[in-house]
Amino acid sequence: MKKVFITTDIPDVADELLKKEFEVVKNINGITLLKDDLIRIGNEYDAILTTLTDKFDKDVLSKCLKTKIFANYAVGYNNFDIDYIKENNIIVTNTPDVLSDTTAETALALLFAVSRRIVEADKYVRDGEWNGFSPKLLLGKDLYNKTIGIIGAGRIGHRFAEKIRGFHMKVIYHNRNRELSFEKSFNAQYKELDELLKESDIVTIHVPLTEETFHLINKRELELMKSDAILINTSRGQVVNEDDLLEVLESKKIYGAGLDVFENEPYINERFFKLDNVVLLPHIGSASKETREEMAVIAAKNIIKVLNGGEPINLVY
Ligand code: DGY
Repeated sequence: MKKVFITTDIPDVADELLKKEFEVVKNINGITLLKDDLIRIGNEYDAILTTLTDKFDKDVLSKCLKTKIFANYAVGYNNFDIDYIKENNIIVTNTPDVLSDTTAETALALLFAVSRRIVEADKYVRDGEWNGFSPKLLLGKDLYNKTIGIIGAGRIGHRFAEKIRGFHMKVIYHNRNRELSFEKSFNAQYKELDELLKESDIVTIHVPLTEETFHLINKRELELMKSDAILINTSRGQVVNEDDLLEVLESKKIYGAGLDVFENEPYINERFFKLDNVVLLPHIGSASKETREEMAVIAAKNIIKVLNGGEPINLVY
């Protein structure tokens, strides 16, 4: 019987599907696997259902001699050495589409939280500081009629643009290539990155992490933003230079930021904790019950296909 290893505690629906055909072992305590663990598993199991904390660099991949498919439980796959998997035709799959709405909703949630100071306001009430209605209490910023700059017009960027239709915002976007369907659907104007940063009241990032997008946003870019602009990042922490962002937030050069992702997860720079103008989430962009289950089903289906001699459904390249 073929063997499948699930590297973390994902919804049981995946194991239930896989167990019908294969022997399945799951790392239910979710302890992050180290390099040697991954290599051992890669020599014992026919398939590995991986997650983004499993680092499959060239060295690990070259030593995983038995595994036929790595089904990543995420849409992003920057935990794999992309060049190496391409050069060696290694089958890596991901879970696209199903999490686009959920992640776009998280970006929206962050946007509201920052613009209307929701987390600060909640704390204010809980701390017993509220003495009654006051016209100048916790004033935030409106979203309607503002300019929103969407960086990345892929699936999640699309869903985000769809969701803000009712806000009467001017939509501008930046992408590797112009996306005419995006422009048409959302009446969006293409901008070079610098222009987008200068013109936007809100900047929201929806690009994958690649060599080109690593530190796409540094101090120079942050300083192009309006002094009352908001930055939202639900993509990958490494897209934004975190030290530069901290500096800009500390000196209040922008209005605020909403972050679901960080440069060195799960480490979070403690300087963030001192700031009122940032809302921090623990990488929960796709964390709805429905979506996390659907992601598990997709990952399992890819494994079932490949171990039965078929083509993967969601090959990443
Ligand atoms: C992804 O899918 O890449 C998210 O970051 C986790 O769901």
